[in-house]
Amino acid sequence: MSHDGAGKGWGENVTLAIEDGVAWVTLNRPDKRNAINPGIVYEMTAVMDALEGMDEAEVIVITGAGNAFSAGQDLKEYFRETEAWPPHERDKLFAMNAAWQWRRTMFYRKPTIAAVNGWCFGGAFQVLIGCDLAIAAEDATFGLSEINWGIIPAGIVTKSVSMVMSQRDAMYYIMTGETFDGRQAAEMKLVNKAVPADQLHAEVTKLAQTLKAKNQHVLRGAKTAYHHVRQMGWDQALEYLMAKADSTTFRDRTQGAAKGMSQFIDEKRYRPGLGAYDRSGD
Ligand code: COA
Repeated sequence: MSHDGAGKGWGENVTLAIEDGVAWVTLNRPDKRNAINPGIVYEMTAVMDALEGMDEAEVIVITGAGNAFSAGQDLKEYFRETEAWPPHERDKLFAMNAAWQWRRTMFYRKPTIAAVNGWCFGGAFQVLIGCDLAIAAEDATFGLSEINWGIIPAGIVTKSVSMVMSQRDAMYYIMTGETFDGRQAAEMKLVNKAVPADQLHAEVTKLAQTLKAKNQHVLRGAKTAYHHVRQMGWDQALEYLMAKADSTTFRDRTQGAAKGMSQFIDEKRYRPGLGAYDRSGD
């Protein structure tokens, strides 16, 4: 029996709603606290494939249904039940999971925001950190719970937290398995900010609209450059960034940099220090 569920669309384990240019992608297994099973992997893959080409979706938000963002990988359906699968099919599932959770998300063509509405454990950190930005409900609960059930934070969880948390914070939560709330997550800069739960939707929408106003081609170049230069030395980073800047400007079909400069210097229509140039003619 084949376990390849790719290409079957979404709507059961993952739902999609597009509101004013913002695609709200919701993990939809609230009874299982949105634990990530193969169904979520397949449907997230399908929805991300589709969103790449949907012009009406400019910013992607990933959130969860009910009281959970996600309780991490599904211990039963993702780990235990797949042990009996042919190894190549299990490997394929794990690779698909890595793609939607972080590898592809980090370099996704469109900006991504994690809206952490509730429980967020283990593998869900990969999604959280894979997204460009994150806003949490103040009462959301986070935890690197792996140690509590006898494994290390694997997949790419330990690497992910080492990129955004301080060594003391990362080691503390990896080793104790204690939980922390949205406010603490914001203090640690694991998320950009925490807001009361009833303001999460509005706050994420506001951030998404800010991103939507920018030159999308350049936004893509900027986030890609950030991830690459983190792994480089200073001299390589300088060479890369200068070349990347040139290629981004060269390949910008809207000629954004020239417009932005002219609207400021010649037309005196706006101040780049205070907001984005007018892209309405693009
Ligand atoms: N894998 C598989 N099933 C999970 C799950 C997970 N990661 N997280 C929750 N579920 C299931 C439960 O087994 C339960 O299923 P059931 O209704 O068939 O019994 C259902 O979701 C609800 O979970 P429950 O524990 O009753 O909910 P709760 O609100 O009391 O507690 C959590 C929520 C998130 C604190 C708790 O479910 C939990 O600790 N989950 C595991 C978190 C974790 O360690 N994730 C890391 C994985 S790498």
